[in-house]
Amino acid sequence: MEWQEEALTRCLDKIEKNITEIGAYFPHVAYDGKYNHEEKKFWTSGFWPGMLWLLYRERGNEAAKELAIKLEKELDEILDGFIHIHHDVGFMWMPSAVMDYRLTGNKEAQIRGLKAASHLAGRFNPAGKFIRAWTDEVNPNAKGWALIDCMMNLSLLFWASKETDDPRFYHIACEHTDTVLKHFVRDDYTVPHIVSFDPYTGEKIEAISGQALNTGTAWSRGQAWAIYGMAVAYRETGKKECLNTARNMANYFLSHLPEDKVPYWDFRSTPDLQWVKDASASACVASGLMELSNLLEDEAEKNFYKKQGMEILKALYDIRFDNEPNSQAMILGGTVNCLKKRHINVPIIYGDFFFTEGLLKAQNKKGIF
Ligand code: GLY
Repeated sequence: MEWQEEALTRCLDKIEKNITEIGAYFPHVAYDGKYNHEEKKFWTSGFWPGMLWLLYRERGNEAAKELAIKLEKELDEILDGFIHIHHDVGFMWMPSAVMDYRLTGNKEAQIRGLKAASHLAGRFNPAGKFIRAWTDEVNPNAKGWALIDCMMNLSLLFWASKETDDPRFYHIACEHTDTVLKHFVRDDYTVPHIVSFDPYTGEKIEAISGQALNTGTAWSRGQAWAIYGMAVAYRETGKKECLNTARNMANYFLSHLPEDKVPYWDFRSTPDLQWVKDASASACVASGLMELSNLLEDEAEKNFYKKQGMEILKALYDIRFDNEPNSQAMILGGTVNCLKKRHINVPIIYGDFFFTEGLLKAQNKKGIF
């Protein structure tokens, strides 16, 4: 068996085992091979249902489908409760409700996806042409803040536009993308985590470091979100600027990877913090590179990005895969937030999700975002 088939089989086996191991909870980070139970309002709650749907799609596992639907219903409290909703609804409802709808035609799931998309569209600030990231609950002074992570949420808007045959969602996704191109992407094709705007006039105020070391550095997972999200924006809009930017941002990521293919948590990390790495950024970028490769026409370029994505996936499988038979986790060595000392060099659910999604895309199967 080729390594990638073996890796995918082992991922799907783990998901299958985790149906009872993890069950009806929302995992985020794992310690000693066991995932925690995160609050359902947290932005990561779509990844476990998404993994279940990938398993269902590959193997027709009915228990996976049942559990994914149960989790999707659990999230209604957040969707309909409104107050906790932030911009990460794409991360939450694309892998859960939208995947359900795509695979089963479930109309209730379609409505959930459209509600989530409407929430996201409702966060658009027309003066600054950006989607507001957080609620006052997270930070009352962030009414004018946009985050690079939001590039990954836009696929929900693109989906909703096609689903309703209504271009409003599409226009918002395009406006936000243009804002990112104009105000986030630096000359060297790195991006800050956060940019703040005056929420009344819409004027750009400044870049804010967020999870990065400082305002001028390059948080590696943010760079991965930007690459994958910008590739999706090109897929949906056909705008060449999105493609060129995704390609150049990917080139930065690839040319700054250490030999083990796992970046420091920030590409410009100071030497004292270089023991902190982020394998989840590698998993996310690998899946994003597969997306980018699929969109390119030139054969040599197509092959280049696919090969780079495969090399990252192989390095993750060879060096970071959790071989402990009883462990629920797949990819070791992700970092949630270095500066806040939150979950450093541990397995994270989105690392596992994007590793599995990347392996599937490598076999020319569709991803979720
Ligand atoms: N979306 C938040 C993060 O990547 O940590």
